[in-house]
Amino acid sequence: MDHDKSIGITEMRKRKFAHQVDVCVSTDRNAIADSYFNNYSDNLSYEEAFEDLFNGKYILDLIKAIWGPETPYRLLDCGSANGLTLRQFDKLGIEAWGIENNAHIHSKTPEGWRGRNLLGDVLKMPFENGSFEFAYVTCLPYLPEEKIDQALKELFRVCRVGLLFQGVTTDMTEEVIEDYMLFRGLRTFWTYSEWSDAFVRNGFKLAVSNPALLDEIWRIEQETDEDDWNWYPNKESMRYSFFSKP
Ligand SMILES: C[S@@+](CC[C@H](N)C(=O)[O-])C[C@H]1O[C@@H](n2cnc3c(N)ncnc32)[C@H](O)[C@@H]1O
Repeated sequence: MDHDKSIGITEMRKRKFAHQVDVCVSTDRNAIADSYFNNYSDNLSYEEAFEDLFNGKYILDLIKAIWGPETPYRLLDCGSANGLTLRQFDKLGIEAWGIENNAHIHSKTPEGWRGRNLLGDVLKMPFENGSFEFAYVTCLPYLPEEKIDQALKELFRVCRVGLLFQGVTTDMTEEVIEDYMLFRGLRTFWTYSEWSDAFVRNGFKLAVSNPALLDEIWRIEQETDEDDWNWYPNKESMRYSFFSKP
């Protein structure tokens, strides 16, 4: 039997990329395992790595540059783990809520944040239409390809202004993927432009269409990222990471 005929584009790309960067990658098609959070980055757990990896001000600077909203506003962290992001957003004056489907990491939500960090699935969220001005979305590549449209429709429903998409893509630099062991749990491994097509066919439009704005968000990215490599492979890929409701 020819297995490769049934594995789909995501598994084929994971295997090819893993071979290129000489990483041993699990090719099972399961959702994120609990161990993913115990060794999130550099042998550190999600909690231990959090302050180094997450920068709420950076997210807010991007939102400000792209949409220029009045504060305070409501933001949904879609794929919020144990809700540590909510505390950072709160300190910056944003009313942030989270939704997370992994019960293990969700159970570690600090006491004071349980009311705002909900255990649930992006595919069916317990929020009214238009509950949030913005969504910061990190969970999508962990969904199987055939569920992406449903997730995007649900995000379109709960979001009023726009969203930031963050996730591992096929066209990221090899250094980034290798450094962060980013294959783990991935079930949809698409290019930026394939993701963008999916957002657009579900009603969103590109939020960054003028070159001056693209320059500005690229500047924010360059000034924030102190590592010697970039999360985004190039400026153009940032155009495919922010989406507005028409
Ligand atoms: C890369 S982590 C990001 C965590 C956090 N947002 C941050 O920026 O530090 C992505 C999260 O999405 C969650 N996730 C995956 N599939 C999901 C789903 N279907 N619904 C909700 N959350 C999901 C994962 O369990 C994980 O906690």
